[in-house]
Amino acid sequence: MHLDYNDPIVWLNHRYECDVKARNASVEEKFLSFFKPHESVLHVTDAGAGTGTNVCYYFDKFKHQQEWTLIEQHDSLVQACRQRLRKFADKNGYYWDEQEDQAQLIANDKRALIRFVNGNVDNLEELINLEEADVLVANAFFDLISFDQFDAMVEKLAQNNVAFLSTLNYYETSFYPFMEEDHQVVRWYHMHMKRPQPFGIAMGADCCEEMLDLLTQHRLMIEQESSQWHLKRGSTTMQHYILHFMENALNELSLTKEERKLCQHWFNQRKQQLHDRTLEVIVDHNDIFATE
Ligand SMILES: C[S@@+](CC[C@H](N)C(=O)[O-])C[C@H]1O[C@@H](n2cnc3c(N)ncnc32)[C@H](O)[C@@H]1O
Repeated sequence: MHLDYNDPIVWLNHRYECDVKARNASVEEKFLSFFKPHESVLHVTDAGAGTGTNVCYYFDKFKHQQEWTLIEQHDSLVQACRQRLRKFADKNGYYWDEQEDQAQLIANDKRALIRFVNGNVDNLEELINLEEADVLVANAFFDLISFDQFDAMVEKLAQNNVAFLSTLNYYETSFYPFMEEDHQVVRWYHMHMKRPQPFGIAMGADCCEEMLDLLTQHRLMIEQESSQWHLKRGSTTMQHYILHFMENALNELSLTKEERKLCQHWFNQRKQQLHDRTLEVIVDHNDIFATE
């Protein structure tokens, strides 16, 4: 099968199963238990919703009637999200009714109203009713935005007593068998995450640490545990994605000729190991749940 490794929609679909396996069960249990006594409609905002991963994952797990607002900055992903959720409904035999900016997902006596918002989380207070919101969730998101963006968001959530669940927060990638150059290559990869972008400098691999610091300053109750991807020998598609993303990232850095040679050698070795099915990749993340 030919895969377009540059298509974010295909990528998000591929990582879904890995994320499901990696999500930390203990953090999830605390999150779901916290909302068990909540009797009215649960208002959930998904930041950086992509193709609707969090709705697919939590719709069945919540016992509540639900109102979701999915905030996603790329319109193509908002459209892909509608399609994916339509398929999700179809596959599970749920009722799906779609209007212009929203849809209803109904399973027996449970219903979710889903609002699709093509927008930026910086404008949270304009995109959702913060006074009504119960929780903001996000999956694989906070490495992509800056500390200042996160700070502004947490301020708004804390002022309105909105709970916070962030899963698959990235912090490290490791390769087996070890190679001497691993540390250097991964350091460059992390440097690329922190390149200047129009919104500032993304938190990148420091996101867990920076998020925990800030949430602690707000004196929130915090649960955090690891959510690791273990891409074993033969997990060739996901391993290929990781090498592809890293190679693209390193190509965008201004490295010297010598440094490029080191990278080339490293990628050649790693691709050969991938081909021979002797490569293992561990991607470390954590999950964080925070409440008043
Ligand atoms: C790695 S993807 C994860 C998507 C989805 N949560 C999932 O797990 O499949 C991150 C998403 O956040 C979106 N995004 C990044 N920065 C954003 C911002 N400032 N506002 C809204 N969406 C943003 C990206 O377009 C992308 O779809």
